[in-house]
Amino acid sequence: MLAIESSCDETGIALVEGGRRIRADIVASQVALHAASGGIVPEVAARAHLRWIVPVLDEVRQAAGFHWRDLDAIAVTYGPGLAGSLLVGINFAKALAWVHELPLVAVNHLEGHVFAAWLLDPAEAERPEPEFPVVALVVSGGHTFLAEMTDERTYRLLGGTIDDAAGEAFDKVGRLLGLGYPGGPAIERAASTATERDAIFPRAWLGDSFDFSFSGLKTAARRVVGSARLGAGLPDDDTARLPDATTAELAWGFQAAVVDVLATKTVRAARAVGARSIVLGGGVAANGALRARLAADADGLGIPLIVPRPGLCTDNGAMIGAAGARRFLAGERAGLDLDARPSLPLAAR
Ligand code: KG4
Ligand code: ZN
Repeated sequence: MLAIESSCDETGIALVEGGRRIRADIVASQVALHAASGGIVPEVAARAHLRWIVPVLDEVRQAAGFHWRDLDAIAVTYGPGLAGSLLVGINFAKALAWVHELPLVAVNHLEGHVFAAWLLDPAEAERPEPEFPVVALVVSGGHTFLAEMTDERTYRLLGGTIDDAAGEAFDKVGRLLGLGYPGGPAIERAASTATERDAIFPRAWLGDSFDFSFSGLKTAARRVVGSARLGAGLPDDDTARLPDATTAELAWGFQAAVVDVLATKTVRAARAVGARSIVLGGGVAANGALRARLAADADGLGIPLIVPRPGLCTDNGAMIGAAGARRFLAGERAGLDLDARPSLPLAAR
């Protein structure tokens, strides 16, 4: 299956065999392009997809050397995401499907993040698939949710963010600390150098629910950073960098609060549904502190935690191939009238 992803700021195309084995996976990232504006500009993102989608396909063909007649289908992300970005991938996929007379399969981007845990790298040893019921935590720049999966196509949403996504909070606090874009990796790097670990940020538990809220954390960060600047005699302006040791401590405190809430709720969900495995996905799953905490928690529950390598946590074509293969086998086909669904929810099809 040839799989195409263009929902946000990465142009990804992959060749995936049997819904698991990656034969080629090429991603053209726009991170550097959007760094100057401190965030994604939708029009700029759509144009960059248009610029890079053909070269990315060429690279996949070079890496995997496939013939069109060997393909079973073409899978493409149709939502959620930025409308202009989605349309580039969708129209590219439609043209390829039409020209090469291949079936087209529409894939939900969020389901792709979940199925990244099923993927195997080209030379990776076989390993068993995650056992159901699965509890999946997907944390990215645009999404944060916990879902239960009872089989490959049945999802029950347990909870989601009521305001910002976890990655969005990392990005905003990263900017606040003058660490640049994207904030997630920068905060992780800064936090890893913290020698003082006294900064305490609030946790929004929202009672017993599996929902998340990160906007209070962001406000708290703004307040703490503001008073730290005042204390250091700096102007309260996001370009005024605090001393590195202070930045590191605040980054550590913020990260610890996010990780604590994400992990605690995931463990509670896993207990509540009697999960036999936990799957983690989305860009924030690249975070080492989150991975380590959840690995220890899953160990305590006696169930495996499956986390893709960081390159498969962020947006890529391979995860769309893994999710698409299952939809294809279930007989799902999209027509040439397939349209972008910018606010497509998980599970509703
Ligand atoms: O899944 P993704 O590539 O795109 C979306 O679908 O949103 O996720 C990007 C998000 C960004 O907010 C970025 O700051 C965050 O993932 N991220 C991280 C780390 N690496 C990426 N957050 C925390 N720690 C990281 N190491
Ligand atoms: Zn994503």
